[in-house]
Amino acid sequence: MSTPSLKKGAPLAEGKRETFSSRKLFILSAIGSAVGLGNIWRFPYVAYENGGGAFLIPYLVAILCAGIPLLFLDYSIGHRYRGSAPLAYRRASRKAEVLGWWQVLICFIIAIYYAAIIAWAAMYCWFSLTKAWDDNPDGAGAFFQSDFLQVAPEAGVSMDIVGGVFGPMLGVWLVAIIIMVAGVNKGISRANGFIMPLLIVMFLILVVQSVFLPGAVDGLNAFFTPNFEALSNPGVWAAAFGHIFFSLSIAFGIMVTYSSYMRRKSDLTGSGYVVAFANSSFELLAGIGVFAALGFMAYNANSAVSDVAASGIGLAFIAFPTIVSAAPFGSVIGVLFFGSLVFAGITSLISILEVIVAAFQDKLGWNRKAATLVVTLPVALVSMILFPTTTGLYLLDTMDAFVNQFGILACALVLVIVFGAGLGMLPRLAKHLNRHSSIKLGTAWMVLVGGVGPAALGYMLINEIQTKIAEPYSGYPVWFNGVFGWGMAGALIVGAVLLALVPWSKKSKLNDPEFAEHQKHVEAEELPDPVGKEY
Ligand code: ALA
Repeated sequence: MSTPSLKKGAPLAEGKRETFSSRKLFILSAIGSAVGLGNIWRFPYVAYENGGGAFLIPYLVAILCAGIPLLFLDYSIGHRYRGSAPLAYRRASRKAEVLGWWQVLICFIIAIYYAAIIAWAAMYCWFSLTKAWDDNPDGAGAFFQSDFLQVAPEAGVSMDIVGGVFGPMLGVWLVAIIIMVAGVNKGISRANGFIMPLLIVMFLILVVQSVFLPGAVDGLNAFFTPNFEALSNPGVWAAAFGHIFFSLSIAFGIMVTYSSYMRRKSDLTGSGYVVAFANSSFELLAGIGVFAALGFMAYNANSAVSDVAASGIGLAFIAFPTIVSAAPFGSVIGVLFFGSLVFAGITSLISILEVIVAAFQDKLGWNRKAATLVVTLPVALVSMILFPTTTGLYLLDTMDAFVNQFGILACALVLVIVFGAGLGMLPRLAKHLNRHSSIKLGTAWMVLVGGVGPAALGYMLINEIQTKIAEPYSGYPVWFNGVFGWGMAGALIVGAVLLALVPWSKKSKLNDPEFAEHQKHVEAEELPDPVGKEY
């Protein structure tokens, strides 16, 4: 029996759900989403701050026990229920829709600040050519804070626009919206097919160039020398788990949405392993490249690597310019590094936006162009109002910390509880994953998702909440953390409940005949006697 609507290469009839035209393009797009700012500026510093080489232990545990199992959970839900996060969860259970909207709103927050960092990187690509920071006698740090971002002396909210950030942000939003309007195949697939190979080549050249800099070995020693004491700190484990979710783009709707565009007979687990392996390889390469460069910086300044390594944002935008000014072929290093950030960032930004666009498209039954414009223009507007300002850096720092370490972790916890103990769906989802996959999952996957997952995530989340209550984040005023940290995180949950209460439009995808057809096949495949073999 054939399923004409899902056939490869078939022209897309009006209202039909798009599918990635090949497995290769799905894998490339999933890697494009996973490899982002998190890999290049966050991972090296998070690893360094949380025990250096010893961080690789919680990192590997987090990948194997939570990262890959939850990646498969996302794949199974998106692919089986063929919808954006709210629609897929709603099809699994009416009440679970709210979890989908929570993920959509998390994506909204990430998207509005993510675009700002890409814009900074784009400007720094340009500055690398002229080494613009050399004009500031106080160095690259002062250039970043005072000349470029014009950061206000205190955390707060200001409407003072910084022209040097506003312009490139406008460009980033224009590019992202153009890609999004074009849809899954003509936009997302094509952009990833073009950008990802370029990114890999650029990054490999950068890493090779960095490891040959004088002092590189000291940087690598600092990165890989383990501090085993760090392993007894629960915060280190929370950092590893939080990072892996952000880095693999899981538990906040992205992989549910992307896997809903995979053809029915897809090797889900095989693709997942390729994506996870590629993401971690990229991350480790980023760590090697960045710390080799920091080793050079320390060698040049005649100081220890620990004295030159700064916080996440600082690491990229303060340390690298210093390296660009001092290293042979510094401008090339700068263009490769900041260019990589821009490329990796854009392919992740479009996947974050896809979660939001697809959700509204499904719920309201809009066509692609209308949904993209109605959704992305207001998102871009909020982003352009808040972040190219003199207080944008404080907002970004706070929102990023709360949405990642609190929002995504909490969402992951609710997800594993709902689909594990709550709905008892793991055996059915395992069967779905195994149906056309090369690597089969068994009881271990169900135990990791349904047992270890809730216990580990619950413990880490409680720890995170206690830490954040005990110490105001980054020493910012209590009201500021209250509004843009706790308030924002709470508002996402309230907003999700309200969005779930909005009735599904008559034109929505909820009762889509195409899904009914798909459902017929997957249900047949899930029967104990494999009737589905004939398909
Ligand atoms: N996975 C994306 C990143 O690492 C969001 O930046």
